[in-house]
Amino acid sequence: MEKSSLAAESLRDSPAYPATQHEITQEAALTQDIVTKIAVLGGTGKEGSGLALRWAAAGYDVTLGSRELEKAQRAAAELNVTLGQGSVRGLTNRAAAAQADIVVMAVPYTAHTATLESIRDVVQGKVFVDVTVPLDMQNVRRVKMPAAGSASIEAQQLLGEGVKVVAAFQNISAEHLKSLNHEIECDVLVCGNDKDAKRQVIELAEAARVQAWDAGPIENAVVVEGMTSVLINLNIKHKVKAAGIRITGIPRP
Ligand SMILES: NC(=O)c1ccc[n+]([C@@H]2O[C@H](COP(=O)([O-])OP(=O)(O)OC[C@H]3O[C@@H](n4cnc5c(N)ncnc54)[C@H](OP(=O)(O)O)[C@@H]3O)[C@@H](O)[C@H]2O)c1
Repeated sequence: MEKSSLAAESLRDSPAYPATQHEITQEAALTQDIVTKIAVLGGTGKEGSGLALRWAAAGYDVTLGSRELEKAQRAAAELNVTLGQGSVRGLTNRAAAAQADIVVMAVPYTAHTATLESIRDVVQGKVFVDVTVPLDMQNVRRVKMPAAGSASIEAQQLLGEGVKVVAAFQNISAEHLKSLNHEIECDVLVCGNDKDAKRQVIELAEAARVQAWDAGPIENAVVVEGMTSVLINLNIKHKVKAAGIRITGIPRP
């Protein structure tokens, strides 16, 4: 991937980042290879828009995807107001996926298969990040995995081996993402079969100012997706909105 001076420029101009983090992230944009185009399918929703906000603030070229073009454009305009810049665009899910280097999907599990089918041909050869949690809408506090094992295994099977599916961000509540000044104290576990794809997603997490860890192959995503129901349980029991997990015992970078 090419270095992006555009990314660095938009960082420099972004009023939304606190100064010290702004400088750190700007330095990262200038010195690392970064992926310039991210599509967030379901980017009009709570989780997708939060991730998109943080990536746009970090200098990535972000496009929100939606089933409806106008809805995507409205959501992009709202993010641009928060960012104080006009870099985020809105397109249909398919058009957003087609023009992106990395495609991130954050839709309800009920929309998982249909959304995957609608973009299958335009994501071949790309990194595809699945944020979807297969919640049991009869009881979201109870883990209930699909027959394939997990939503991200279903995505890998449906999209085929030509797509580098990575499972990530399922344990980060949208509550943490929506304010750029908020320090996130929860970690992200990243699962997938392609090491370089996982490295790119870990970089994306870092750009969103979240610590991420390579948590092994795509089969391990069953634990990560299931953890979300455990966290929802804790949220309800303790009357909080955004319980999370943190890995200990490893020096933090
Ligand atoms: N919210 C969180 O805190 C959180 C945290 C971790 C993981 N997750 C997971 O991330 C995913 C998205 O969560 P969310 O809270 O952002 O969901 P959401 O706001 O309810 O929905 C996200 C977007 O998905 C699209 N969508 C909704 N219903 C659909 C349907 N029936 N068919 C096709 N598209 C549909 C909508 O976009 P358009 O109408 O614009 O197409 C919507 O804006 C879920 O799998 C969730 O479990 C959420």
